Amino acid sequence: MSRSRRRTQDHFGRRARREGFPARSVYKLEEIDRRVRLLRRGQRVLDLGSSPGSWAIYAASRVAPEGHVLGVDIKAPTGALPAHVEHRVLDVFDLDVDELGGPGSFDVVLSDMAPSTTGQRALDQYRSFELYMRALGLASVLLRPRGGFVGKIFQGAEFPEAQAATSALFDKARVLRPDATRDSSYEVFLVGLGRNDAPPLA
Ligand SMILES: C[S@@+](CC[C@H](N)C(=O)[O-])C[C@H]1O[C@@H](n2cnc3c(N)ncnc32)[C@H](O)[C@@H]1O
Repeated sequence: MSRSRRRTQDHFGRRARREGFPARSVYKLEEIDRRVRLLRRGQRVLDLGSSPGSWAIYAASRVAPEGHVLGVDIKAPTGALPAHVEHRVLDVFDLDVDELGGPGSFDVVLSDMAPSTTGQRALDQYRSFELYMRALGLASVLLRPRGGFVGKIFQGAEFPEAQAATSALFDKARVLRPDATRDSSYEVFLVGLGRNDAPPLA
């Protein structure tokens, strides 16, 4: 990593601590939100892979005061969350859509889920793809018509399949790599805007 790029990364870490976010990942969502105008006051947001809680805290600030954020993760959040954020400790592969409110319950579904990495790049990419497709499958049921989606994926051999599945469900689909993403990371975010009337993923 170049010296100037490292300085930028350190800057995001310091800024997160100063602004009270548990992780620097908040600036990825902030940039995506700024670029595609995703979050608005009053929305209901599902945040998959929400621990330690930065995205949930940011989303809560954008949808306040009437909106609501439901975070789901296999881990608990590391600190206190705002009053209109609910967190459930769950594995996304075990949950049932009815537990989360049923079809059409959310305006926006976010997923920053990532597998525990093994160092074997192809395996890590495949496990990230599985998490991504699970998030997209849940979004395909849980989003209201015209709702929006953001999901993280490690780019690998399965990436074109994830991209095609996203494009099929939304009027517009984009690939974004926010500035706060580390240079060495092969993660990107697929963004779907305007859930169309294609049938949900099986
Ligand atoms: C990069 S962190 C998310 C950071 C979070 N967006 C924030 O800003 O604080 C990825 C999260 O995905 C979660 N995760 C991985 N597999 C999961 C699964 N099967 N079900 C639910 N959460 C999962 C991990 O526990 C981890 O907390």
